[in-house]
Amino acid sequence: QRSIWLTRHAETEDHLAGKLGSVREELTPNGHRYCRFVAEMLRSCKRQMLRAGETTDREVLVLLGTAPVHAATLNSLKSVPDVAEDRIHFTGMSTSLLNELDGGVCNGMTYEQIQREHPDIWEAREKDKLNFRYPGAGGESYADVIGRLRPIIIELERQRRSVLVISHLAVQRCLYAYFTGCPIQDTPYLELPMHTVVELRPKPHGAAVRQAHFDD
Ligand code: F6P
Repeated sequence: QRSIWLTRHAETEDHLAGKLGSVREELTPNGHRYCRFVAEMLRSCKRQMLRAGETTDREVLVLLGTAPVHAATLNSLKSVPDVAEDRIHFTGMSTSLLNELDGGVCNGMTYEQIQREHPDIWEAREKDKLNFRYPGAGGESYADVIGRLRPIIIELERQRRSVLVISHLAVQRCLYAYFTGCPIQDTPYLELPMHTVVELRPKPHGAAVRQAHFDD
């Protein structure tokens, strides 16, 4: 048995300001507290698995996007001391495949700004959020993100190690939907709050799902 854990990156100032595609490096003090919660939770889950003889390694593989905020979240996790004898460590592998849905011309804007400055974009996205592709270089739709996540999904399917995926919301939604069998049309609307770890334990049909929320 092994787990796939999903978490959005920890809180940043940009995120608090409601800007799309927050990539600023610094986490808030609350963001760091969340990382401690995640590190302690994962290590404790992993130790339980080891003691139950379910797995042999002492490693959690961490897959993350290339944005500084992803690295900042991983570094904060890694900096949480492990005082137990059977130490569990985190090994990070970053890939742009896990970067957030690209907002094109709207990157770095708040929803209020988009509504005001690009009402046409706002309306078109409201009508078909799954297929709407943000205009501008690199702009993406949810359908685009689902397509680019295929190699990640194959890797997550074949991995025998426990894996933590750190990414932004849209990517989390797509991965969650795949492993839980959620209908594709519902994917862009899934509620996956900040500072919550989703644990997926793949089964022959679907996955057992648990959520652990950190109370800020
Ligand atoms: O946390 C904010 C965020 O990850 C943005 O960076 C991103 O554009 C947004 O969530 C995705 O949500 P939606 O597709 O509902 O706009």
